[in-house]
Amino acid sequence: MSDRQWSAMMTGDESYAGATSYYLLKEAIKDITGFSYFLPTHQGRAAENVLFSVLVKEGDIVPGNSHFDTTKGHIEFRKATAVDCTADISSDTSHFHPFKGNVDTVRLETILKSRPAEKISCIIVTITNNTAGGQPVSMENLREVGRLAKKYKIKFIIDGARFAENAYFIKLREPGYSDKEIREIVREMFSYADGMTMSSKKDAIVNMGGFIAFRDEDLFTQSSTYNIIYEGFITYGGMSGRDMAALAQGLYEGTEHDYLESRINQVAWLGTKIKEYGIDVIEPFGGHAIFVDAKKFLSHIPREEFPAQTLAIELYIEGGVRGIEIGALMADRDPVTRENRYPALEMLRLAIPRRVYTNNHMNYVAAALQTVFERREKITRGVRIKWEAPIMRHFTVGLERL
Ligand SMILES: Cc1ncc(COP(=O)(O)O)c(C=O)c1O
Repeated sequence: MSDRQWSAMMTGDESYAGATSYYLLKEAIKDITGFSYFLPTHQGRAAENVLFSVLVKEGDIVPGNSHFDTTKGHIEFRKATAVDCTADISSDTSHFHPFKGNVDTVRLETILKSRPAEKISCIIVTITNNTAGGQPVSMENLREVGRLAKKYKIKFIIDGARFAENAYFIKLREPGYSDKEIREIVREMFSYADGMTMSSKKDAIVNMGGFIAFRDEDLFTQSSTYNIIYEGFITYGGMSGRDMAALAQGLYEGTEHDYLESRINQVAWLGTKIKEYGIDVIEPFGGHAIFVDAKKFLSHIPREEFPAQTLAIELYIEGGVRGIEIGALMADRDPVTRENRYPALEMLRLAIPRRVYTNNHMNYVAAALQTVFERREKITRGVRIKWEAPIMRHFTVGLERL
């Protein structure tokens, strides 16, 4: 966090109800997103838990673009189904497309038509699309999803963990937006949605926190009950007053153009270095992370032996660099058949914390990966699962090297 965020913490009001820090945050959220109502939560997944307690019922479907793992977990835990409508272009790793996070709106409409509205909890669009490689969603796409949501009377929720990075990419790549301010773009993005969930550790640059924001008082009122059960009273929801004060400040800093430019350029620096070593990464580079194509890196290791997880382990041993698998292990088992799911992409994600590292650290990460690349033929086998939890297994899975 910045000096201004740390100093904002000193002003935290820790009153149980009606803390001034809560109202400060409410104003900041309204100003940045346009949403009038909000509930604080302790993390992004807590926001999902509270909101889905209202929206998601057994047997429902929740269409969206590559739901994040905790999002999918909360949906499947409620015996509903997350339907992935990400545009096919996202899995073509060799092709440049400016908005690989987009929803395939034709597929989305087919799904919306196929069921009565009460069987569709909501549409969730994640910006940027983390699971598909940190790829942005275009304004045109958000507008069209919003139109379909209205047409079929279904709520449209944005998972906004990386909303500011998404806005930066719109400014950079979408015709008609180069002259607009980041905050103007942010406002427009959210104007098409009914609400948002937020993991504030991302684009609000805090150490902990989350929130749900709503356009509609009714959904806010219904969610408030669950917030009280799971998180805390509606004016703190699992957050300290000081954390809300830092978050309010972070929302402004996270939407500053120069900050976003340096952040996204640092990610691109790492991607460029890795590419120079002849290693395949997902392109264009993601906003918060570089995604290494593990299917190509360890092409001799079968999917059943989790090549991306194997690569994550090798990189950790080589350089003490902790990446994460985004592939078959994270995709988990099909909740009905219990078979492993094999998504199109099998990636090692190298996500970069904000305001922590220099580009020299990036050089180190790339060099460690290159060393693994040079000895990749010697990595003859992958890993086997020894123990796994019934849901969201990748957080705690026990693995054995084959
Ligand atoms: C897109 C997205 N949604 C939701 C979450 C969950 O947020 P949290 O980790 O704060 O619970 C994350 C966390 O990484 C995320 O990237």
